[in-house]
Amino acid sequence: MAEQIKTIGVLTSGGDAPGMNAAIRAVVRTGLQKGVEVKGIKRGYAGLLAEEIIDLNRNSVSEIIDKGGTILGTARCMEFVTEEGQKKGAEVCRKFGIDGIVVIGGDGSYRGAQALSKQGINTIGIPGTIDLDIACTDYTIGFDTAINTAMEAIDKVRDTSSSHERCSIIEVMGRNAGYIALWCGVANGAEDILLPENYDYNEQTIINNIIQNRKRGKKHHIIINAEGIGHSTSMARRIEAATGIETRATILGYMQRGGSPTCKDRFYASIMGSYAADILCQGKTNRVVAYSHGEFVDYDIDEALAMKKGIPEYEYEVSKILSK
Ligand code: ADP
Ligand code: F6P
Repeated sequence: MAEQIKTIGVLTSGGDAPGMNAAIRAVVRTGLQKGVEVKGIKRGYAGLLAEEIIDLNRNSVSEIIDKGGTILGTARCMEFVTEEGQKKGAEVCRKFGIDGIVVIGGDGSYRGAQALSKQGINTIGIPGTIDLDIACTDYTIGFDTAINTAMEAIDKVRDTSSSHERCSIIEVMGRNAGYIALWCGVANGAEDILLPENYDYNEQTIINNIIQNRKRGKKHHIIINAEGIGHSTSMARRIEAATGIETRATILGYMQRGGSPTCKDRFYASIMGSYAADILCQGKTNRVVAYSHGEFVDYDIDEALAMKKGIPEYEYEVSKILSK
């Protein structure tokens, strides 16, 4: 029989993602409904080490479900990557009577959660990242808002690109993962989609594609470039020089990470937050919540971190057929 959980904590870590607030709200309200106290840890693991810990009640999480960012703040914390930092984190938890923590973040944050659980603090992870790059889950909180924000922005750039008969390189987020680029590339009808997972750095292929499309009467040429490939501005200069077609770069940047979460992000965040609080209160530890094959499930963090995920080949092939 698991030890009785009396107090749980919640923190957000790594890059913020729209829907994190909905997840915090769900953790708090579900925890309270189960009769445990809930504390908010500010600024991720950095705030844990600095003892930036506040009491949360139902009202503390009122009117946040529609807000982007995270009310708790987030941070990257190198000290927590060290064993000393992790030991200190566990001591702080014990000092504040925190029996377990819900960590909302990406797989870096999961490693922190895994370390905390090894130090005897029960931990449950929730996938919060706009990148969709967590292998154990088909969905990560923030992805839907980010792709919709990017899609709308790309539509606007396309209008001006067509009017001026220009080529446009639009850089979307994703340092290591091309999911935002792939989804927007398909949804915006891009002519070229460059993904960090499989781009061969052969610009001549793109140049030939642009020239061919222009001959066929296409008025614009949209290239979606993922942040991980980057260098959109210099790429634009080289393409313009090689094709003679005016080429502009637009880097969408952090606008993709902010903003009010979509219904889908609020829904997944709410269910995942509630699920996490639920299993934490049951005494489970070293688990992550995931959405897999149409169901909300949980996995052992070690197993989850060992899983691999790549760009689905079929989806990429379709994107190429449709861009012709
Ligand atoms: P994300 O969670 O979005 O992947 P990061 O990779 O930046 O973002 O990780 C967020 C934070 O998680 C880091 O700043 C660090 O505090 C913690 N973290 C990352 N990797 C580890 C690790 N190997 N061990 C312990 N903590 C880690
Ligand atoms: O994880 C989300 C993300 O936006 C990635 O796409 C990007 O590589 C990274 O965060 C950038 O984060 P920051 O600029 O905050 O270091």
